[in-house]
Amino acid sequence: MLELAQVHKTYCGPRGAQIPVLSETALTLKPKEFVAVRGPSGCGKSTLLLTCGGLLTPERGKVLFRDLDVYAQSAQQRARWRARHIGFVFQQFHLIPYLSVRHNILAATLPQPRRETQTRLDELLTEFGLQDRADHLPAALSVGERQRVGMARALFNEPDLILADEPTGNLDPENSDIVLRTLTSFTEAGGTVLMVTHDPSMERFADRRLTMEAGALVAV
Ligand SMILES: Nc1ncnc2c1ncn2[C@@H]1O[C@H](COP(=O)(O)OP(=O)(O)OP(=O)(O)O)[C@@H](O)[C@H]1O
Ligand SMILES: [Mg+2]
Repeated sequence: MLELAQVHKTYCGPRGAQIPVLSETALTLKPKEFVAVRGPSGCGKSTLLLTCGGLLTPERGKVLFRDLDVYAQSAQQRARWRARHIGFVFQQFHLIPYLSVRHNILAATLPQPRRETQTRLDELLTEFGLQDRADHLPAALSVGERQRVGMARALFNEPDLILADEPTGNLDPENSDIVLRTLTSFTEAGGTVLMVTHDPSMERFADRRLTMEAGALVAV
């Protein structure tokens, strides 16, 4: 359902320094697959997820989503495509600090408005035990609650692919378990997950484990 073909990404550092991160990177994700990626800090795991999700244009190579060339779209088309098909979950949550829980979750609909938002919102607030926190700002939430908001935002538009960047990196075992159960039931219901993790207990549930070495993905 997602394919990276010979993707290259080099960042420009200070004084024109080139920082090669992805090089000839290839990856094919099948529908309903749960794939875990690990690798040393700085090897390019977050860069990989951003590239898969249409947020970072590679210099060379293609990202294909069901035969759609993701980076052949305009930035606006890509934002709508992302809202429809991709959910992101981050270690640091990336909630908007001045928006309530309710509006952080609804932010998922901004590029692609949908009907029945209230019903969907109520459903997710209940699923993640956030009914009594809907009007809180992120700063007034526990760490686990913040990630549950992040999960609700990622799932809001019923995406096909979840890209999760160390989603349990900051969590206690109970909230890690909620994240894991959410991701596994997402794949059971037909979704696909690409997750970066250093947590062996999360990796155990993956269908396929990869490591990143010198910008390439290798099966473990
Ligand atoms: N915007 C940027 N400009 C320049 N260099 C960058 C930029 N973003 C990342 N890098 C560099 O690219 C490399 C890969 O970064 P990336 O964040 O993808 O690593 P990572 O594998 O996710 O690391 P970690 O496990 O610590 O999160 C790092 O060496 C980083 O310093
Ligand atoms: Mg990272």
